[in-house]
Amino acid sequence: MKPAKSIFLVVGARPNFMKAAPLQQQLDRRSALFHTRIIHTGQHYDADMSDIFFQDLDLPLPDHFLGIGSGSHAEQTGRVMMAFERICLEERPDLVIVVGDVNSTMACAITAKKLRIPVAHVEAGLRSRDWTMPEEVNRVVTDRISDLLFTPSRDADQNLLREGVSPERIHFVGNVMIDSLLANLPKTESRNTLAKMGVKKGRYVTLTLHRPSNVDEPKVLAGIVDVLIDLAHELPIIWPLHPRAKKNLKAFGILGRLENTLGVKITEPLGYLDMLSLNQHARMIITDSGGLQEEATVLGVSCITLRENTERPVTVEAGCNRVVGSHPETIRAALFSTLSMNGQNIRIPELWDGKASVRIVDVLTRFYS
Ligand code: UD1
Repeated sequence: MKPAKSIFLVVGARPNFMKAAPLQQQLDRRSALFHTRIIHTGQHYDADMSDIFFQDLDLPLPDHFLGIGSGSHAEQTGRVMMAFERICLEERPDLVIVVGDVNSTMACAITAKKLRIPVAHVEAGLRSRDWTMPEEVNRVVTDRISDLLFTPSRDADQNLLREGVSPERIHFVGNVMIDSLLANLPKTESRNTLAKMGVKKGRYVTLTLHRPSNVDEPKVLAGIVDVLIDLAHELPIIWPLHPRAKKNLKAFGILGRLENTLGVKITEPLGYLDMLSLNQHARMIITDSGGLQEEATVLGVSCITLRENTERPVTVEAGCNRVVGSHPETIRAALFSTLSMNGQNIRIPELWDGKASVRIVDVLTRFYS
């Protein structure tokens, strides 16, 4: 029998964990073929940005924790590359799997490629065409050098083909985040999250904001907050604060105003299962996250995205998501018109069926046979 292939599965930041967990489980099911090591770069390190996701998702603790932490883009990327190179040289994996579009994704892909270790990118081919987003740079660079490209939607295949990627490298497998969502939905029932937050099914809004374009500029952030305070008079808003948003709300002197608004409930970042419970029963989700647009689509909850564009147009085509930018009056119009609607006809995108990770491991099995 051939020896098992050694695979490094890289995670770094919060949106990576729910993409890696189903993959790790499927790879483990074929442990005779694949020996998987989880590498956590430590881009996110707070207990509520990292550890809780390992618990909630039953993800085994990392085999290597690189402890990179925060810094400028160059510092963070450079530090990940140096630390990841060391363990690649020590252990010489047969394949490095990276997921998503964070700095750790790109840094580990570049490092592996230069050591001539094949790279697989999960969630390949997404494009916002907005080069002001660091994630767009990470996506394009990672895709350009990956040997295997696993795409979540047909538009991602088209993007890659247009960029000249040869079709043999592209594998349309569906969305691994949705594997996690569907597998974990039953676990949310016993958690009592809504009662703990003091809200009722369908009668509150969940909100997340963390993009530099929304939270780094005082005027932009204050404009968004004004609209949110008006909305909170109609429906309670639950806002788990990302560290970047919290830091800036404090620095710009806005946090106190929010905390004094009846109807706005500020919390620390929430774990996967509590956030899933809240999203599942929300009247509406307001976000600038990528993943939440997808989760909202599968949960059938209206999503308002506070960005100028999305790399996930499939969520808009599905009838769930409205991309409204950051201008207060446009946001206000979208929020209140969505509230006045009675349900939406949302179509779940192709292959968002909970089996993307099985398809990926099938492709890897064929790749090595
Ligand atoms: C990163 C990703 C973004 C993803 C987001 C999810 C990049 C370029 N960006 O953005 O794509 O949507 O994660 O959260 O990779 N901080 C803490 N504790 C932590 C982590 C961060 O306090 O555990 C604070 C630090 O002040 C840090 C700031 O948050 O400087 C930003 O963290 P960073 O990892 O640089 O980027 P995110 O904004 O989280």
